[in-house]
Amino acid sequence: MNWHVRKFHFIAPFYQLFFKFQTWNYSMIIEQNLHKTGILRDDTLLDIGSGTGAFAKSWERSGLKVLATDAAPGMIKQCRKNGLDCIELDLNQGLPFSENEFQVVSAAYLAHGLPLDQREFLYKESARVAEKAVIFHDFSKKTNPVISAIENMEGSHYREFIGSAPGEMKPFFTTVEVIGVNKWHNWYVCHP
Ligand SMILES: C[S@@+](CC[C@H](N)C(=O)[O-])C[C@H]1O[C@@H](n2cnc3c(N)ncnc32)[C@H](O)[C@@H]1O
Repeated sequence: MNWHVRKFHFIAPFYQLFFKFQTWNYSMIIEQNLHKTGILRDDTLLDIGSGTGAFAKSWERSGLKVLATDAAPGMIKQCRKNGLDCIELDLNQGLPFSENEFQVVSAAYLAHGLPLDQREFLYKESARVAEKAVIFHDFSKKTNPVISAIENMEGSHYREFIGSAPGEMKPFFTTVEVIGVNKWHNWYVCHP
Protein backbone atom coordinates (compact mmCIF):
# COMPACT_ATOMS: atom_id res chain seq x y z
CA MET A 1 0.00 0.00 0.00
CA ASN A 2 1.57 3.35 -0.99
CA TRP A 3 1.36 6.39 1.34
CA HIS A 4 -1.52 7.91 -0.64
CA VAL A 5 -3.67 4.80 -0.17
CA ARG A 6 -2.53 4.39 3.46
CA LYS A 7 -3.79 7.91 4.17
CA PHE A 8 -7.25 6.97 2.85
CA HIS A 9 -7.19 3.74 4.83
CA PHE A 10 -6.83 5.71 8.09
CA ILE A 11 -9.32 8.50 7.30
CA ALA A 12 -12.08 6.12 6.13
CA PRO A 13 -14.27 6.45 9.30
CA PHE A 14 -14.09 10.26 9.01
CA TYR A 15 -14.86 10.11 5.26
CA GLN A 16 -17.94 8.01 6.09
CA LEU A 17 -19.47 11.02 7.89
CA PHE A 18 -20.00 12.65 4.48
CA PHE A 19 -21.47 9.58 2.77
CA LYS A 20 -25.13 10.65 2.87
CA PHE A 21 -24.42 14.19 1.66
CA GLN A 22 -22.07 12.92 -1.07
CA THR A 23 -24.63 10.38 -2.28
CA TRP A 24 -27.36 13.02 -2.41
CA ASN A 25 -25.06 15.35 -4.38
CA TYR A 26 -23.77 12.70 -6.81
CA SER A 27 -27.32 11.38 -7.41
CA MET A 28 -28.50 14.86 -8.35
CA ILE A 29 -25.55 15.30 -10.75
CA ILE A 30 -26.17 11.89 -12.35
CA GLU A 31 -29.87 12.57 -12.87
CA GLN A 32 -29.10 15.97 -14.43
CA ASN A 33 -26.39 14.71 -16.78
CA LEU A 34 -27.00 11.03 -17.59
CA HIS A 35 -28.93 11.80 -20.80
CA LYS A 36 -25.89 13.70 -22.19
CA THR A 37 -23.62 10.65 -22.00
CA GLY A 38 -25.27 7.78 -23.88
CA ILE A 39 -25.12 5.70 -20.68
CA LEU A 40 -28.24 3.58 -20.08
CA ARG A 41 -29.81 2.77 -16.73
CA ASP A 42 -29.19 -0.96 -17.06
CA ASP A 43 -25.52 -0.66 -18.08
CA THR A 44 -22.78 -2.40 -16.09
CA LEU A 45 -20.33 -0.07 -14.34
CA LEU A 46 -16.96 -0.46 -12.68
CA ASP A 47 -16.15 2.31 -10.18
CA ILE A 48 -12.44 2.76 -9.36
CA GLY A 49 -11.26 4.36 -6.11
CA SER A 50 -14.78 4.11 -4.67
CA GLY A 51 -13.85 5.20 -1.14
CA THR A 52 -16.94 4.76 1.05
CA GLY A 53 -18.95 4.17 -2.14
CA ALA A 54 -20.95 7.39 -2.58
CA PHE A 55 -20.47 7.67 -6.38
CA ALA A 56 -20.97 3.91 -6.86
CA LYS A 57 -24.14 3.98 -4.71
CA SER A 58 -25.52 6.87 -6.74
CA TRP A 59 -25.03 5.00 -10.03
CA GLU A 60 -26.71 1.98 -8.45
CA ARG A 61 -29.69 4.11 -7.41
CA SER A 62 -29.99 5.23 -11.04
CA GLY A 63 -30.35 1.58 -12.03
CA LEU A 64 -26.83 0.59 -13.16
CA LYS A 65 -25.24 -2.72 -12.12
CA VAL A 66 -22.20 -1.59 -10.16
CA LEU A 67 -18.95 -3.12 -8.92
CA ALA A 68 -17.09 -0.83 -6.48
CA THR A 69 -13.32 -1.12 -5.97
CA ASP A 70 -10.65 0.50 -3.81
CA ALA A 71 -7.08 -0.16 -2.67
CA ALA A 72 -7.60 0.94 0.96
CA PRO A 73 -9.00 -1.80 3.27
CA GLY A 74 -10.59 0.83 5.56
CA MET A 75 -12.53 2.27 2.63
CA ILE A 76 -13.59 -1.19 1.41
CA LYS A 77 -14.98 -1.98 4.87
CA GLN A 78 -17.09 1.23 4.87
CA CYS A 79 -18.16 0.67 1.26
CA ARG A 80 -19.47 -2.81 2.09
CA LYS A 81 -21.25 -1.44 5.19
CA ASN A 82 -22.94 0.99 2.80
CA GLY A 83 -24.40 -2.01 0.96
CA LEU A 84 -22.13 -2.11 -2.07
CA ASP A 85 -20.45 -5.02 -3.77
CA CYS A 86 -16.82 -3.92 -3.30
CA ILE A 87 -13.50 -5.64 -4.00
CA GLU A 88 -9.91 -4.72 -3.11
CA LEU A 89 -8.07 -3.53 -6.18
CA ASP A 90 -4.92 -1.42 -6.59
CA LEU A 91 -5.14 0.34 -9.91
CA ASN A 92 -1.34 0.43 -10.17
CA GLN A 93 -1.33 -3.38 -10.51
CA GLY A 94 -3.62 -3.09 -13.54
CA LEU A 95 -7.34 -3.86 -13.73
CA PRO A 96 -7.96 -7.64 -13.52
CA PHE A 97 -10.70 -7.51 -16.18
CA SER A 98 -10.82 -8.26 -19.89
CA GLU A 99 -11.29 -5.78 -22.76
CA ASN A 100 -14.78 -4.18 -22.76
CA GLU A 101 -15.83 -6.16 -19.67
CA PHE A 102 -17.95 -3.25 -18.36
CA GLN A 103 -20.08 -0.88 -20.41
CA VAL A 104 -19.00 2.04 -18.23
CA VAL A 105 -16.04 2.82 -15.96
CA SER A 106 -16.19 5.71 -13.47
CA ALA A 107 -13.87 7.34 -10.96
CA ALA A 108 -14.67 10.32 -8.71
CA TYR A 109 -11.85 12.44 -7.26
CA LEU A 110 -9.30 9.74 -8.07
CA ALA A 111 -7.37 11.26 -10.99
CA HIS A 112 -6.29 14.56 -9.42
CA GLY A 113 -4.76 12.72 -6.45
CA LEU A 114 -2.39 10.70 -8.63
CA PRO A 115 0.93 11.68 -10.24
CA LEU A 116 0.94 11.92 -14.05
CA ASP A 117 2.34 8.42 -14.72
CA GLN A 118 -0.38 6.84 -12.56
CA ARG A 119 -3.08 9.02 -14.15
CA GLU A 120 -1.94 7.90 -17.59
CA PHE A 121 -2.12 4.29 -16.45
CA LEU A 122 -5.64 4.97 -15.15
CA TYR A 123 -6.67 6.35 -18.56
CA LYS A 124 -5.08 3.43 -20.42
CA GLU A 125 -6.60 0.73 -18.22
CA SER A 126 -10.06 2.28 -18.01
CA ALA A 127 -10.16 2.70 -21.82
CA ARG A 128 -9.29 -1.00 -22.14
CA VAL A 129 -12.05 -2.38 -19.88
CA ALA A 130 -14.84 0.09 -20.82
CA GLU A 131 -16.96 -0.67 -23.86
CA LYS A 132 -18.97 2.54 -24.02
CA ALA A 133 -17.69 5.36 -21.79
CA VAL A 134 -15.38 6.35 -18.96
CA ILE A 135 -16.56 9.13 -16.63
CA PHE A 136 -14.07 11.01 -14.47
CA HIS A 137 -15.83 13.23 -11.94
CA ASP A 138 -13.15 15.71 -10.90
CA PHE A 139 -12.16 19.34 -10.51
CA SER A 140 -12.66 21.95 -13.25
CA LYS A 141 -10.12 24.61 -14.25
CA LYS A 142 -11.83 27.17 -12.01
CA THR A 143 -9.50 27.51 -9.04
CA ASN A 144 -10.90 27.79 -5.56
CA PRO A 145 -8.65 28.95 -2.68
CA VAL A 146 -10.31 26.59 -0.19
CA ILE A 147 -9.89 23.56 -2.46
CA SER A 148 -6.30 24.64 -3.26
CA ALA A 149 -5.43 24.88 0.45
CA ILE A 150 -6.93 21.46 1.28
CA GLU A 151 -5.34 19.76 -1.74
CA ASN A 152 -1.99 21.40 -0.91
CA MET A 153 -2.13 19.99 2.61
CA GLU A 154 -3.01 16.58 1.20
CA GLY A 155 -0.06 16.76 -1.20
CA SER A 156 -2.31 15.90 -4.17
CA HIS A 157 -1.66 16.76 -7.83
CA TYR A 158 -4.65 19.11 -8.06
CA ARG A 159 -2.94 22.09 -9.73
CA GLU A 160 -1.10 19.96 -12.26
CA PHE A 161 -4.31 18.03 -13.04
CA ILE A 162 -6.55 21.06 -13.60
CA GLY A 163 -3.81 22.62 -15.74
CA SER A 164 -3.55 19.67 -18.11
CA ALA A 165 -6.99 17.97 -18.15
CA PRO A 166 -8.67 17.18 -20.49
CA GLY A 167 -5.65 17.34 -22.85
CA GLU A 168 -3.72 14.66 -20.98
CA MET A 169 -6.67 12.22 -21.42
CA LYS A 170 -7.00 12.64 -25.19
CA PRO A 171 -4.19 10.27 -26.34
CA PHE A 172 -5.97 7.38 -24.58
CA PHE A 173 -9.49 7.86 -25.95
CA THR A 174 -11.25 8.47 -29.27
CA THR A 175 -13.09 11.49 -27.86
CA VAL A 176 -13.08 13.40 -24.58
CA GLU A 177 -16.03 15.64 -23.80
CA VAL A 178 -16.15 18.02 -20.84
CA ILE A 179 -19.47 18.56 -19.07
CA GLY A 180 -19.43 21.23 -16.38
CA VAL A 181 -21.59 19.72 -13.64
CA ASN A 182 -21.19 22.80 -11.42
CA LYS A 183 -18.79 25.73 -11.05
CA TRP A 184 -15.95 23.70 -9.54
CA HIS A 185 -16.45 20.26 -11.06
CA ASN A 186 -16.49 18.59 -14.44
CA TRP A 187 -17.43 15.27 -15.83
CA TYR A 188 -14.70 14.24 -18.26
CA VAL A 189 -16.69 11.91 -20.51
CA CYS A 190 -14.23 9.76 -22.43
CA HIS A 191 -15.10 7.37 -25.25
CA PRO A 192 -12.70 4.45 -25.81
C1 LIG B 1 -10.59 11.22 -2.76
S1 LIG B 1 -11.07 9.56 -2.50
C2 LIG B 1 -12.57 9.50 -3.45
C3 LIG B 1 -13.49 8.41 -3.01
C4 LIG B 1 -14.82 8.34 -3.75
N1 LIG B 1 -14.65 8.11 -5.16
C5 LIG B 1 -15.64 9.56 -3.51
O1 LIG B 1 -15.96 10.26 -4.46
O2 LIG B 1 -15.98 9.81 -2.35
C6 LIG B 1 -9.92 8.64 -3.52
C7 LIG B 1 -10.02 7.14 -3.34
O3 LIG B 1 -9.14 6.51 -4.27
C8 LIG B 1 -8.51 5.43 -3.65
N2 LIG B 1 -7.23 5.16 -4.35
C9 LIG B 1 -6.11 5.91 -4.36
N3 LIG B 1 -5.16 5.32 -5.07
C10 LIG B 1 -5.67 4.15 -5.52
C11 LIG B 1 -5.18 3.09 -6.31
N4 LIG B 1 -3.92 3.09 -6.78
N5 LIG B 1 -5.99 2.05 -6.60
C12 LIG B 1 -7.27 2.03 -6.14
N6 LIG B 1 -7.81 2.99 -5.36
C13 LIG B 1 -7.02 4.05 -5.06
C14 LIG B 1 -8.32 5.87 -2.20
O4 LIG B 1 -8.15 4.78 -1.32
C15 LIG B 1 -9.60 6.65 -1.94
O5 LIG B 1 -10.60 5.83 -1.40
